[in-house]
Order: sequence, then C-alpha cells, then structure tokens
Amino acid sequence: MRVLGIESSCDETGAAVVDETGLVHADVVASQIKLHAPYGGVVPELAARAHVKNIGHVVRATLESLEGGLASIDAIAVTQGPGLVGALLVGTSLAKAMAWSLDKPLVGVNHLEGHLLAPFLRRRPEDAPGLAFPYVALLASGGHTAIYRVDSPTEIELVGQTRDDAAGEAYDKAAKLLGLGYPGGPVIDRLAAKGDPAAHPFAVPMQRKKGLEFSFAGLKTALARKIEREGVPADERTLADVAAGFQEAVVRSLVETSIRACKELEVPRLVLTGGVAANSRLRALATSRCGEEGIALVIPPFSSCTDNAAMIAYAGVLELLEVGPDDLTIAPYSRDPQRKRGRFGPDGRLIPRKPPR
Ligand code: KG4
Ligand code: ZN
Repeated sequence: MRVLGIESSCDETGAAVVDETGLVHADVVASQIKLHAPYGGVVPELAARAHVKNIGHVVRATLESLEGGLASIDAIAVTQGPGLVGALLVGTSLAKAMAWSLDKPLVGVNHLEGHLLAPFLRRRPEDAPGLAFPYVALLASGGHTAIYRVDSPTEIELVGQTRDDAAGEAYDKAAKLLGLGYPGGPVIDRLAAKGDPAAHPFAVPMQRKKGLEFSFAGLKTALARKIEREGVPADERTLADVAAGFQEAVVRSLVETSIRACKELEVPRLVLTGGVAANSRLRALATSRCGEEGIALVIPPFSSCTDNAAMIAYAGVLELLEVGPDDLTIAPYSRDPQRKRGRFGPDGRLIPRKPPR
C-alpha cells in the first residue's frame, strides 16, 4: 500500500509517499525558515499564506519524483493537528480535494504520532526495518517536549511533558537573547561546540524532582538575568562558553529524564525525535549515557526528526491498516486532544487540574 502524506502544521510544507514497510518512495519539504527569521519565530498568518503558495508545487514535485506517479497512490494521509489552524487548513483542504477527486481513502493523522513513528521510516530499500516495541520516545521540538511510552502504533501513552516551554523554544529564545538569530537550535549547537560548558554553568532544570517532567522557562530567565547583569558577551570565546553552558543544562535535563523514564517503565529502548534530536551534544550525551545504562538508543536521521510528510504518510498507512479508511471526517485542531492536562506527580501519576469554578 502506498500513501501520499501531506504536512502543513507549522512552517514546513511537505508531501511524501511511503509504503507499509516504512520505505520512503518520494519526499519533498519546503521550509519557511527564511520567511520567519526576521521575526524570531513562526508568524501564523505568514505561515498559512506560504503554505497556500507552496503546497501545489511541493505535491507536484513529490509525484513527479515518484515511480508510477499519482496512479500508484492508494490513499491520502494529512496532518490534522496539533498545529497552527490556518496552516493546517491548507493541507487538509488540499488532501480532501485530492481524495475526493481521486476517490481514494483519506486519513487524518496526529502530527505527534507521526514524530513518534519516525524511526520506522526507511530511506533506502537496504535499510533494516524499524525497531521493536515497546520503546520510550523523547519528542523534543519547537512546539512540544514530552516523553511517551509506545507499545504499538495505536497504543501511545504520554508519561511526562514540559510544564512550560518546549526545548526547541528554549533554544530559540536563548538565541534571541544572545542576538544569534533564528532558529536558535542549530546556531547554539554550532557555537557551543567551540565553548566550555563548565565556564558558565547553568543549573539543570527539574533534576531534584526525580519525576518525568521538564521545565525550561527558569533556565531562560537565568540566561536573561545573566545578560542583564553582564551584557551579551562581546568576544566570541565567552559567547561560545555561555551557549555551551546553556545547552549543557537543556541536554542533561532531556537525557537524564528520558533515562529515568526507561528505568521506571522498565523499557530499555529509547528513541529521540523532533527537531531538537538533531542536536549534536544531545546525540553524543544520549549515546554515552544509554551505553552506560544498557539502553538501546535509536535516533532517526535528521530529515526524519524534523517536520516532514513521510512520517505522516507512514502513520496514515498504519492507521488505514488498523482501523480502515476514515470517511472524509477531517477536523483540524490546534492542541492535541489526547494530551492530558495537568502535572505529573513524583510517582509519575497525573495530578489533574482543578476544574474551573
Ligand atoms: O520538529 P521541528 O522541525 O518543528 C516543530 O517545532 O515541530 O523543530 C524545530 C525546533 C526549533 O525550535 C529549532 O531551534 C530546534 O528544533 N532545532 C534544534 C537543532 N535543530 C533544530 N535544537 C537544538 N539543536 C539543533 N541542532
Ligand atoms: Zn513537529
């Protein structure tokens, strides 16, 4: 079965074709990074307009590079949320129109499930198929930072999440404070590689709590206070040291909490996914710590970690095989409807929010 996936939830317009073995037959992504860079973050209105402009070209380029072309597609999958609603409407409208005109099944995919299933994507026929269930997955991107237990493609449990900012958002805000531009992750990653993380250390968030939650707002405030006191470092060396100190705190929090989750859930397999999984220090520390703890670590290639339509197509394949075709009931949503609200207590159980009075 070949599924055409369409992704337009944030600032990447993507289309891809994937089969039930996870093999990617075609994959095109148009990034809007340059468009949003002057604003230091994604501007929803501009994102939606750029999707309208680009999506036809992206889908056409995908189908042109696909052996067998449009005729070889069995179904269409589209991200229906979470994401920016104006952006989601572009992808969902096109997917609906295509499914209707081709008389093919249409399936709505949760974007986060796409990220969590990314390790099953195979870029070449000789790539080994996926990994074994269950696994623990750290999803760290610009919009989300959470830990999941994945027992099967349809049994996914959220076990911990950030109380405030996402890890990628923390990188982006830190880069803004340091005058480094957008997106912050790749710039800080490169700069920090030249710095000494011990020269300007920051406290690792949430490590005394021993739970499975994250928090990055305090770390950002600590950096902001430091800059207020000392100014933005004028010399490249100190700038690199501060970037390295900040990055070390983010990465240690991500790695140690993920390892704690693997131990508590007794699942010795960890997947890193989302844009932040591209981070070189995160990859290095996770590799060494997982080695020490006897945890098998899987980090999909960069193109599968950041927003892409191949992961959406693959989640769509599995959904179709498991539950059958959806009857065009696509409903875009900005927040994940499955995402639990509230905080996780020290025993890992969710403490529900008090109902509004
Ligand atoms: O998954 P993604 O492409 O988009 C969503 O947010 O869904 O993630 C983008 C985020 C941005 O915040 C960016 O700064 C961060 O991932 N990022 C990185 C790196 N590359 C991208 N963060 C740290 N290190 C990197 N090398
Ligand atoms: Zn994403």
